[in-house]
Amino acid sequence: MIHTKACEILGIAHPIVQAGMARTYTNAKLVAAVSAAGGLGVLGCLGRPADEAVAEIHRIRALTDRPFGVNFVLHLRDDDTFAACLAERVPIFSFFRGDPKEAVARAHEAGAMTIHQITTVEEAARACDVGVDLLVAQGHEAGGHMGAVPLLTLLPEVVAVAGERPVLAAGGIVDGQGLAAALCLGAAGALIGTRFLVTSENPTSVMHKRAIIGARPGDTVASEIFDILWGDDWPGVQVRAVRNRLTARWVGREDDLRAALQEARISLDQAVAQDDIEEIPLLSGAGAGRIHALKPAGQVVRDIVTEAAQILRDWGARVGI
Ligand SMILES: Cc1cc2nc3c(=O)[nH]c(=O)nc-3n(C[C@H](O)[C@H](O)[C@H](O)COP(=O)(O)O)c2cc1C
Repeated sequence: MIHTKACEILGIAHPIVQAGMARTYTNAKLVAAVSAAGGLGVLGCLGRPADEAVAEIHRIRALTDRPFGVNFVLHLRDDDTFAACLAERVPIFSFFRGDPKEAVARAHEAGAMTIHQITTVEEAARACDVGVDLLVAQGHEAGGHMGAVPLLTLLPEVVAVAGERPVLAAGGIVDGQGLAAALCLGAAGALIGTRFLVTSENPTSVMHKRAIIGARPGDTVASEIFDILWGDDWPGVQVRAVRNRLTARWVGREDDLRAALQEARISLDQAVAQDDIEEIPLLSGAGAGRIHALKPAGQVVRDIVTEAAQILRDWGARVGI
């Protein structure tokens, strides 16, 4: 099996970290299933109140004694939830966006390891300066909010600035081929979101999962319309999602959307209540076109590591070297 420096630091068997996606997309069941299978499950705390985060942490601990993490989007961090997770002595804190200095120092004081996800080489250098234990290089292929640089370009540059610090690759990785490729580019493992959306434990809506399974390569789009609709202030940052009628109507017409915002938000609320596949934001990475079935999360971990190990073993013969 594949054991890297990231596994050492995080105390896990396989170099697979489930992305700490926001409240709607992660729960204790998912996190515990990933951790129990030897990966690292991460509870998303974006939008999650402190009491709910604590209850989920207790559920995770009832389901597995393996390490797990919590995730915070720094510029949207709920301070009560952050303090509650520190008080619960969660072993691993993962962060995204914003300057990680203060959050890293507080997590370290509480005895936790820290992961910070970055989208540029400059952010990577800053994260190293403030003592982050592990970096995640997130490429343009990623689902949800993501950066502008493709993973193939970003990852080797981040690995170069990270020195001894392990770097995980994120964006479009859905299987063992993706993990093997990331390792060849110098990563110490993969951080994976979209593949874990399409698992039996994930609380994401049924139609959202179906849309990802039905998507073909090229069926996702990166756009600002979702943040405009949600009223989130993430200037210059885009969100990747599966194309549907909602994206066909508004992508490229952002000013028209701003002008019709009130009505558009009412329609969105109705669509979410009805789980309308054509009108809800179907957040997803570009790897959606290569996900063909719903699986238990533990199976996803096992399949990815088994396939990656086999590819790395047989690779020379496969390509005729
Ligand atoms: C539905 C969804 C929600 C996400 N929410 C968060 C979040 O709250 N915090 C965070 O750090 N990253 C979040 N991300 C981004 C992931 O951390 C990660 O970069 C991404 O999932 C990797 O690409 P992939 O989805 O192609 O595997 C989210 C991604 C998705 C798909």
